[in-house]
Amino acid sequence: MAILVLSHPLPSAPFADALRALAPDIPVWTEADTVDPAAVQALLAWRLKPGTVARYPQLRVVCSTGAGVDKLLSDPSLPEALPVTRVVDPLQAQTMAQYVIGQLLRALREFDRYDAQQARAEWQRHPVRPLARCRVGLLGQGEVAQAIARACVPLGLPLALWGRSARPLPGLEAAQRHQGEAGLAALLAGSDVLVNTLPLTPATAGLLDAARLRQLPPGAWFINVGRGEHVVQPDLRRLLDEGHLAGAVLDVFEREPPAADDWVWRHPRVVATPHIAGEARHAVVARCCLDALRAVQQGLPAPLAVDRAAGY
Ligand code: OXD
Repeated sequence: MAILVLSHPLPSAPFADALRALAPDIPVWTEADTVDPAAVQALLAWRLKPGTVARYPQLRVVCSTGAGVDKLLSDPSLPEALPVTRVVDPLQAQTMAQYVIGQLLRALREFDRYDAQQARAEWQRHPVRPLARCRVGLLGQGEVAQAIARACVPLGLPLALWGRSARPLPGLEAAQRHQGEAGLAALLAGSDVLVNTLPLTPATAGLLDAARLRQLPPGAWFINVGRGEHVVQPDLRRLLDEGHLAGAVLDVFEREPPAADDWVWRHPRVVATPHIAGEARHAVVARCCLDALRAVQQGLPAPLAVDRAAGY
């Protein structure tokens, strides 16, 4: 029985070390090792090249190195019955919330504008926009969305969340809740700052096209910590160029990193960061993977297995 770490483009050594520290009895291999394919029972991966899974006849579970599993599920050769697990790291959700709050305050308090003024030695004060009048709309209501929403509460930011169900979210009782297509339209129309945390599935890919982005109020901001594929990039660019959107903060991209000549690097209304909003700790990733492997070995459902039909 062995675990194979295929975390590319993330370095595999920290994941392998974390697994070995927690389970010194289990062989842990990376691509740099001589791998016995018949011994591999778990893959710990970020993305899978199509056909990878077929090389390991005893494979019992595929574990994600992150919260998202889209790059694993996109392998069409993945058997339906093979469990795929994700990671839940509360610290990752918190660091993503810190990222969003930092970017949101930078936008709403116009820090970039004051940086530019400082460069010109210009002393010019602008009216402060009260946060109580900046409505934040969250796409998604999972761990990350909830952490962001809870971080917004003490700042007095009015909140709305859009998701599949109306299940209660502790601490967020005052937030508006929306579901379905009509709910999405209502959320967009009432969001001065739209924050995307959705999982990437066939149902959410390309969700934010020109028609939907145009439903945001003029002057709205868009913060993307979900996936680049949620957004139709030329449509986003058009709405930024037109000034309908005041700005976009993008931490995720369809292609990572974006090509050197990609418009996102240099657009005056875009803040682009290299997928750093938050990452799961190696020890937590290793724990989730080991728990999944041990469960399936005992014939139990893998904890944190995703719903293959829903895609998350
Ligand atoms: C993740 C991510 O899915 O960092 O964990 O995007």
